[in-house]
Order: sequence, then C-alpha cells, then structure tokens
Amino acid sequence: MGIALITGASSGIGREFAKQLKENYHINEFWFVARRRDRMEALAAELSVSARIISADLCKDEGVMAVREALESEKPEISVLINAAGFGRFGAHDQISAEDTARMIDLNCKALVLITHMALPYMVKGGHIIEMGSGSCFTPLPNFNVYAASKSFVLHYTKALYYEVKKYGVSATAFCPGWVHTEFLAAAGNDKNVNRPKKTKPLLNVQTVVKGCLSAAMKGKKMFVTNWFTKMQHVLFKILPDGILSRMWLGMQQNTETKKDG
Ligand SMILES: NC(=O)c1ccc[n+]([C@@H]2O[C@H](COP(=O)([O-])OP(=O)(O)OC[C@H]3O[C@@H](n4cnc5c(N)ncnc54)[C@H](OP(=O)(O)O)[C@@H]3O)[C@@H](O)[C@H]2O)c1
Repeated sequence: MGIALITGASSGIGREFAKQLKENYHINEFWFVARRRDRMEALAAELSVSARIISADLCKDEGVMAVREALESEKPEISVLINAAGFGRFGAHDQISAEDTARMIDLNCKALVLITHMALPYMVKGGHIIEMGSGSCFTPLPNFNVYAASKSFVLHYTKALYYEVKKYGVSATAFCPGWVHTEFLAAAGNDKNVNRPKKTKPLLNVQTVVKGCLSAAMKGKKMFVTNWFTKMQHVLFKILPDGILSRMWLGMQQNTETKKDG
C-alpha cells in the first residue's frame, strides 16, 4: 500500500489508526495532521515509520491550506485517508461560546470535507476513506446539539460520497462508535454546571473499535457502527420519532433544567 493521510493523528482514534495501519496494512509513508507536532513526531519515532508531519489548526483556513499546499507539491499516492480530527463540547447553546460552536463546525464538517476534496485526486484505485462520524449522529441531541448535528452531516456526506467515489475504485466509510476511551470526553468539558450526560462509561476500547473499523473499511463498507449498544441505538433511531429519542437523551442528563422545559 502507498501513503496514509491521517488527521487527528496526535491522539486517540487517529493515533490508533496509524498504529494498526503500520502493523497490518504495510503503509509505506504516513502523513500526520494535527496541531501538536511533538506528539506526531513521537508517534512516527515509536512506529519507526517515514512520516510527513503537518502541524496545522484545521479550524483555520490557513491550516487546511497547509495540507493543500503539501498535497499539491508532493502529489502523493494516497491509499488511505482518515479524517479523525474532531472535537465536541457538552452544553446547551448558551453554555458554549460562539467561537467553540463555530470551531466544531469548522473542524468536524468543513475541514473534513475540504481535506477529502483535496486528497481525492491523489487517491489510488483500491484506496479507502474513513470519515469520523459518531454514535451521536443518528438523532438530534439537546445539549450536545452542534456536535451531534456535525456528525450527522458527516454520516450523510460519507454515505453519498460512497457512491460518488465507487467509480474510481475508492471506498468511503463513516465510522460511528459510541463513547471511546480517548482524550475526547475531557475535551468535551467536565463542568458540573453544564448540561451533559450523567454517565458515559463503560468506555469502548480504542484498539478494538479501530480494528473493527479498518476491517469494515477494507471490505468497502459504507458505515461501521460499534458497539452493540450503539447498533441498538441506530435501529431504535430508525423506528422511534425524534421527540421520544431526544427526551430519552435528556433523561440521561445531569442538569434537570432543560428536562423540565422539554
Ligand atoms: N472518543 C469518543 O468517545 C468518540 C466517539 C465518537 C466519535 N469520536 C470522534 O473521533 C474523532 C477522534 O476523537 P478522539 O476520540 O480520538 O479524541 P482525541 O483523543 O481528543 O483526539 C482528537 C484529535 O483531533 C485533533 N484536533 C482537535 N482539534 C484540532 C484542530 N483545531 N486542528 C487539527 N486537529 C485537531 C487533535 O489533535 P491536536 O489537539 O494535536 O490538534 C487530536 O489528534 C473525533 O472526530 C471525534 O468526534 C470520538
């Protein structure tokens, strides 16, 4: 296989994708994209791989442009593209700053789409794209609203992309896991005064979910949902009305204020 371009390679799921691709899929070269250069350099050293490190804030236009410039100058033959960079914030609309709200959309949606768009001309036949959705993508989630909506966007975008890129021999897989043991939840906010789920544990093991997703992507699946609980949610979300599901989600919140109003 050729080159793997992974955003969000400095931590969690993106980092684990790099490890498993190195172990099992004979990637010749990695391109790592995130803000923390030291983490990505350490990963390249740990894996003993040839890596191009792009330290970029993908919430900013210049960060996305840095990836574009590297692609245009190197013209790499990309076998695997993984858009794992992303973040969420717990809280109601008035508990999250306008800046963070915009950044979620910029990173989870805009950067993901632009990087896919820019990388596609360089993807080889038989290549694979993995876009990070989430178990949160199947229904409206009050107090995790913008994050869940951004992942819903990713799911729809990827499912349509799947058909568009099929003719080039490229697959596109939306990866939709439940809560995974990474730095994600700490970044999403621990403030007790903010509306957030009371319980997020047990957390899924990052090695297990990434292994399952890579296997599904290599088989050309359109979507990979894990674990059994998220799969069950996915089915329920298809048959139950949004209102019931949103209320069920609110019932799991630690702040009751919105529940009473709901
Ligand atoms: N963990 C979960 O429960 C879970 C569940 C479903 C879906 N997901 C999704 O999985 C993906 C990976 O999350 P994770 O669980 O691995 O969380 P994580 O450990 O916090 O990793 C997030 C990654 O995104 C990168 N990132 C964040 N902001 C960025 C920015 N402005 N520019 C460039 N890169 C940025 C981070 O790198 P830097 O900080 O170095 O920039 C890091 O590499 C996300 O899209 C997340 O929404 C996570």
